[in-house]
Amino acid sequence: MRRLMPGRRALSADETPQTADPRALPGHVAIIMDGNGRWATGRGLPRIAGHKRGINSVRKITRHARLRGVKYLTLFAFSTENWLRPKEEVHGLFDLFRYYMRRECRTLAREGVRIRFIGDASEMPQDIQAMMVEAEAMTSAGDTMTLIVALNYGSRAEIVTATQRLAVKVAAGALSAEAIDDAAIAAEMNTADFPDPDLIIRTSGEQRLSNFLLWQAAYSEFLFVDSHWPDFDELSFDECLDRYCQRDRRFGGLRKSG
Ligand code: FPP
Repeated sequence: MRRLMPGRRALSADETPQTADPRALPGHVAIIMDGNGRWATGRGLPRIAGHKRGINSVRKITRHARLRGVKYLTLFAFSTENWLRPKEEVHGLFDLFRYYMRRECRTLAREGVRIRFIGDASEMPQDIQAMMVEAEAMTSAGDTMTLIVALNYGSRAEIVTATQRLAVKVAAGALSAEAIDDAAIAAEMNTADFPDPDLIIRTSGEQRLSNFLLWQAAYSEFLFVDSHWPDFDELSFDECLDRYCQRDRRFGGLRKSG
C-alpha cells in the first residue's frame, strides 16, 4: 500500500484511491470538527471567524470524501452542550448554518449527495427547521454519498429517548423485555437508517468523544489529528484514510495475520 508522506499533495478526483483494496476504505467517516475558536483566537480574530473558515473545510471535505468513495459522512456541527456558549456565538453559528444551507443545497443535490440531520431539531429556530426539512427533501434522491449533519445532537439524550420509546412499547405489550437486543436499540436511534461509523476523526488535538455517537462508536477506529478544523484539508483527509487502512479491525475477533 502506498503511504502518503508529509508534503505530498492530496490525490485529485481522477486518481485511483491510494489503498490497494478499495473495500478497506471506510464506508462511513464521522468527524468532530474541533478547533475553530482556537484557529481564530490564535490569529487575533473573533471566534466566529473560525467557524466561518470552518464552513470552507465542510465544503472541501464533503466534496473530497465523496470523490474518495466514502458513502456516509457525519459532521458534528452543534452539540446539545453548545447552547452553553455565549448567545452571540450561538446566533453566529445559526447564521452560518443558514448561509451554508442557502448556498450548498443545490450543489449537494447536483452532486448526488443526500443530506440528513440527526439531533433534536425541535429546539432549533423555526426557519432553520424549515430549511432542514427542505434540504432533506431537495436532496432525497442523492445516491453518491449521504451527508449526515449532527445538529443539536447529544448521544446520551439520543439513548435516553430510544430507551423511553422501548419502555413505552414494553408497557403497551407490543414488545417483550427479552426481545430488546442490539438491533432493537439501534432501530430507535437517530442513526437507524445508517451504518455505524468505521472511522471517527477529531481535529485540534483533543482526545475525547464529547457525547458523540457513543452507541454507534462501539467498533469505530479513532484518529485524533492536531490541525484545527479550518486547516483540515483534502490532504489531511487522505492521510486519515491512509492511517485507517493500516488498522487491523478485529471486531473482538483475532488478528488476521496470526
Ligand atoms: C468546534 O470548534 C466547532 C463547533 C462547535 C462548530 C462547528 C461548526 C461549523 C464548522 C460550521 C457549521 C457546520 C455545518 C455543517 C454547516 P470550537 O469552537 O469548539 O473550537 P475551540 O475548541 O478551539 O474553542
